[in-house]
Amino acid sequence: MFKPLNILDEKHKILRQTSKEVMLPLSKEDKKTIDQIIKHLTYSQIEKYAEKYDLRPGMGLAFPQLGQLKRIIVIVYEYEDGKFQNYVIVNPKIISHSEEKVALETGEGCLSVNREVEGHVPRYARITITGYDPDGEKITIRAREDLSVAFQHEVDHLDGILFFDRIDKNKPFFNENEIRLI
Ligand code: NI
Repeated sequence: MFKPLNILDEKHKILRQTSKEVMLPLSKEDKKTIDQIIKHLTYSQIEKYAEKYDLRPGMGLAFPQLGQLKRIIVIVYEYEDGKFQNYVIVNPKIISHSEEKVALETGEGCLSVNREVEGHVPRYARITITGYDPDGEKITIRAREDLSVAFQHEVDHLDGILFFDRIDKNKPFFNENEIRLI
């Protein structure tokens, strides 16, 4: 039986706090939460289920969005039509990044932000991120383009940063000469 997650809205102060590193391996409870997040994110990206359960589509979630200040992020990435790759990183660190920046042309969204926010969010085009899987094995992932953006968005949540904090109020939009829009 599927039950949608209770995701905190941006007005909750907890989303502005810094999350703490987590001991490994993860507890059974944390692993169960991860499974629930994966299911929610996957269903939210499949129209049939998104409609049935009234889910807003989203590809990533961080534990603080559930009210838990733990450094755990989850991404469910649709790399091909109907095919999903799950990424779970505990205590993630972006250890290197490209010089080049990109921005999603249509702007970013967030399951905690229930309104349209217009503007381009500059992000590194490529990153290398390290951390641990739920069993405590060290992992290293290289990500580019929209997946790179997703990782940066989720890591920001662990530091109390929401995507619109990174939109320049005086100049919310870039043109193609200033930043590559993807
Ligand atoms: Ni978000």
